Amino acid sequence: MRIAVACDHGGFALKQAIVRFLESSGNSVKDFGCYSEESADYADFAFPAAEAVADGQCDRGVLICTTGIGVSICANKVRGIRCALCTSEFQAEMTRRHNDANVLALGARTVSEQEAERIVAVWLKTSFEGGRHARRIDKIAAYENKQEVNANV
Ligand code: RB5
Repeated sequence: MRIAVACDHGGFALKQAIVRFLESSGNSVKDFGCYSEESADYADFAFPAAEAVADGQCDRGVLICTTGIGVSICANKVRGIRCALCTSEFQAEMTRRHNDANVLALGARTVSEQEAERIVAVWLKTSFEGGRHARRIDKIAAYENKQEVNANV
């Protein structure tokens, strides 16, 4: 899969580990930064990475900040993105099965590197179940489309 990754300074070390993990498991990674532990604003990196998923340049995205919260808020502002902040393999599995989450957010201080790798692995391999869950995410898309129409009136 083509995976967009991004982080801020708080997520930098974990992002580096996740990039290695993704590449060693056969994925192609597009790294949107940041590239050091120098203080940086998560929005500057999370938006471009989420947009790369929304426009089809990448299949999925993994975003990391200290808590995972800032990057997940940004990603969920991007039309077509369903970003889930996960701290467990159970959440990662369920958000693929039920929400078809196309972006995963991780908090560098809420999961260890080993937990993060396990979360990413289950999130990548789990399929969306469709059915009643497709109806539910269609309602999210309909809401996004309604917002867009209202903005253009
Ligand atoms: C940076 O200090 C921290 O606020 C950021 O990494 C993130 O956790 C915000 O939600």
